[in-house]
Amino acid sequence: MADYTISVIHGDGIGPEVCAEGVKALTALGEVAGHRFAFTDYLAGGAALDASGVPLPADTITGVKDSHALLFGAIGGPKWEKVAHHLKPEAGLLQLRKELGTFANLRPAAVHDELLDASTLKPEVLKGTDIMVVRELTGGIYFGLPRGIEGEGPARRGFNTEVYSVMEIERIGKVAFDIARLRRKKVCSVDKANVLESSQLWRDVMIGLHKQYPDVELSHMYVDNCAMQLVRNPRQFDVIVTGNIFGDILSDEASMLTGSIGMLASASVGGPVGFFEPIHGSAPDIAGQAKANPLATIATVGLLLRYGLKLTAEAELVERALRSVLAKGLRTPDIAKAGEKVVTTREMGDAVVAAIRAGK
Ligand code: IPM
Ligand code: MG
Repeated sequence: MADYTISVIHGDGIGPEVCAEGVKALTALGEVAGHRFAFTDYLAGGAALDASGVPLPADTITGVKDSHALLFGAIGGPKWEKVAHHLKPEAGLLQLRKELGTFANLRPAAVHDELLDASTLKPEVLKGTDIMVVRELTGGIYFGLPRGIEGEGPARRGFNTEVYSVMEIERIGKVAFDIARLRRKKVCSVDKANVLESSQLWRDVMIGLHKQYPDVELSHMYVDNCAMQLVRNPRQFDVIVTGNIFGDILSDEASMLTGSIGMLASASVGGPVGFFEPIHGSAPDIAGQAKANPLATIATVGLLLRYGLKLTAEAELVERALRSVLAKGLRTPDIAKAGEKVVTTREMGDAVVAAIRAGK
């Protein structure tokens, strides 16, 4: 009998390549730490569409719900760009987040000293940056009704609805304040309250909730200013809490502070089963070429251990192993300097496994 059952959705593009390295790291960690992990593969996204005609088959939903945690690669690609909206690989991902009720998406963006030169920004601006973006994941404009495309000719219109209830804002706010208590005790709530009513309510609720967290500092920022401040002075941020679409955009921006989107992991929690995925997409342009950086998926394994299985010491071992391969100078193309020697996806994964086994 396994101690933990882990669902794995490899997905499309580079998803299978990076997931394989994540599974390898988790298996090695299990051997070192004395846990047995049983992995079950499920389909979602374009691979599911090709195999079964839908981007999220029913057995994927039931299987994932029945496991301890989900490790997810990436989905989507040009092959499925023309399919109907509700059948797109992305629609399957959104439905899965909704099905699992994982309303809180944690996206840590910390700058590793070893990669200070990998970013396009100046090292002195980046050094010491350590941000946690807490993105609301199952509401807002991604899910708001009404939505659609209607009418004819020049009057044809497409529309979506940005909507948040007090309940939805309070529960994501609590996640952000609780995380801030474990960090530097600063929350910056990001909205567009100067224009949007949904943001005005967001801000009012955050101010009300803050009364329960007097030990945490709360500030507010408009999303456009936040986008600017992230590149001007990223060290000012500790926890950023924001809605679904602002969080989507700001977390991609924050990832570039760390040098590469190929480094960033995410944990989606709040439901009975945690959902763990790198924040990058399926990168079809480099799929199958052994160029993908598996470190985002390996960092994701760290989050799975920490937030999904509550195995803190084990999470730290994986995080240490990740740092040690960077310190040794191993680089995939996305984080390599011009002319620097690069390793393949698998070589990077192997090095992490070796570091896990060596306990460092
Ligand atoms: C992300 C991705 C997804 C999102 C897409 C693939 C639907 O960009 O996880 O950030 O917008 O949430
Ligand atoms: Mg995104």
